[in-house]
Amino acid sequence: MHVAFNLAADLDAALTSAATAAGLEAAGFAPEVRTADPRHGDFQANGVLGYAKARKLNPRAVAEKLVAALPASVKEACEITIAGPGFINFSLKPAALFGWLRTHDSAAHLKAGAGTAKSGQQWVVDYSSPNTAKQMHVGHLRSAVIGEAICRLLEFNGAKVVRDNHIGDWGTQFGKLIWACKKAQVADAAALDAALARDPLEEFERLYKVGNDAAEADPAVMDAARAELVKLQAGDAENLAVWKHINGVSLAAFQQIYDQLGIRFDVTLGESFYNDQVERIYRELTATGIAEESQGALVVFHPEHPRFKTQPFIMRKADGASNYATTDLATALYRVEHFHADGIVVVTDFRQGDHFEQLFLTVRKWFAAKHYRVPELHHVTFGAVTGEDGKALRTRDGGIVKLKELLAEAEARAFALVSERSADIPAEERHAIAATVGVASVQYADLSQNRSSDYVFAWDKMISLEGNTAAYLLYAGARIHSIFRKLGATPGDAATEAAASALETPAELALARKLVKFADAIRIATDTLRPHFLSLYLYELAGEFSAFYGADKVAVDDPAVRARRLMLCARTLLVLETGLHLLGLRTLTRM
Ligand code: ARG
Repeated sequence: MHVAFNLAADLDAALTSAATAAGLEAAGFAPEVRTADPRHGDFQANGVLGYAKARKLNPRAVAEKLVAALPASVKEACEITIAGPGFINFSLKPAALFGWLRTHDSAAHLKAGAGTAKSGQQWVVDYSSPNTAKQMHVGHLRSAVIGEAICRLLEFNGAKVVRDNHIGDWGTQFGKLIWACKKAQVADAAALDAALARDPLEEFERLYKVGNDAAEADPAVMDAARAELVKLQAGDAENLAVWKHINGVSLAAFQQIYDQLGIRFDVTLGESFYNDQVERIYRELTATGIAEESQGALVVFHPEHPRFKTQPFIMRKADGASNYATTDLATALYRVEHFHADGIVVVTDFRQGDHFEQLFLTVRKWFAAKHYRVPELHHVTFGAVTGEDGKALRTRDGGIVKLKELLAEAEARAFALVSERSADIPAEERHAIAATVGVASVQYADLSQNRSSDYVFAWDKMISLEGNTAAYLLYAGARIHSIFRKLGATPGDAATEAAASALETPAELALARKLVKFADAIRIATDTLRPHFLSLYLYELAGEFSAFYGADKVAVDDPAVRARRLMLCARTLLVLETGLHLLGLRTLTRM
């Protein structure tokens, strides 16, 4: 068997064909090949048990029949045993592992074999999506980090991805802000201009607070703010100019964060972009009978759903205004009509769960009525971030944490860590390294754990060389680079690798077995849209490499042994760096 990239998937396919060849009812048989507990080999098929049980057959006999019908190539590559009541265990032979190392010698070859799971598909990923005129908060950072990793995983699997920053740029915040701006203008126009020139974001935030506090204290101000919003939404030139100014300032500030994270959006289509679509949305959803009037509002109920049969999805408020639901319906339509999306992913915290569940239920019915193909719809959620006291993340004086300051602190702490360990590296280079380690640590803290769980923001755990951290993995990569530097060798050099002899030692074989499972880590991370499966794999790979490096000397005299160990180092580096880049991290050659 050509040792393909997606091994579990390939064995699955081979067993499925074998089922037909062996005369099983192939339709009722799912091989269920999974990465196995290492004691049982590399992969295990569990599907025989259920199949045999349902038909009152002897599972071992079924397994034997299946194994006999497997193609010669599979038997050549794997040691196959039947264990227990009918598990089929596959253990890759050393020659097959060696073949994998030989053929996966570049980033392009890793990707080429990565499967075609999403090839030819168009995806739209909606992530980060902060609200203008406000600070981007930790939730938008989580969304940015997780969303970017998902984009890269989809692309690695062959998809085309539109990165869409769906900013909140049309909400009630603008009424209050415009009201406060006008008041400041009247009071002291020169002072306002000076403050806006000095630090526009800071000034707009201050004004928003002024407007918000005043509106809360005085209903007359609330009415005035609402009137400003209505004027804006009706296209008033003065209010539109203020609104544009605010959005420009906010986007420039967001961009600084995105630059640090290495994120480039293809489009920034915020809520305001869909403003002229709302009438069409009302019309279509009413005409198809999906929406109905209820207490003056236009709403959608879902009778088949236990909660949403009574909890309405409000798409036009009783006062006639459009809302978050209206724009999100228009957004879904645009993504299908304009981008021809086969899949849509929206990344927000879990609290928007009901909104997206109702939205997707509505979209499915609406598109079916229009005879549109319904794309895959995914709401990718994540848990809350808390400080070490278990409460919402705050600064020491109780304010909200600004992302710029958070990333600066990460960098400062990373600088201390690097300086402690590698004082010999010139200070300037240590600063550059710290910039990479700092941002990567914040990103990786998000990506290393299941996104569904809440997480505690703890600097000491996050910026550490111990445990499943960015610093540990970046260091592992830098260490492999240094092995090559010391030997005056180049990773992946074909002439060197041509001399490699067969894998022999337990540590060599164990490392090769881990490398081969890269594809399965990619597959599960992509299928579930959960990057932590890839993170965990990379962490285990780094551990396996350490074990190998501790057990087997690389710089031995025997050129064939040295060549194969250098090949293992080079492949580990390739897989590690490819994986880290897929997570959105920058890597280092020295640390
Ligand atoms: N602006 C929203 C927020 O800050 C997130 C938008 C997510 N995307 C969407 N299509 N609703 O919570």
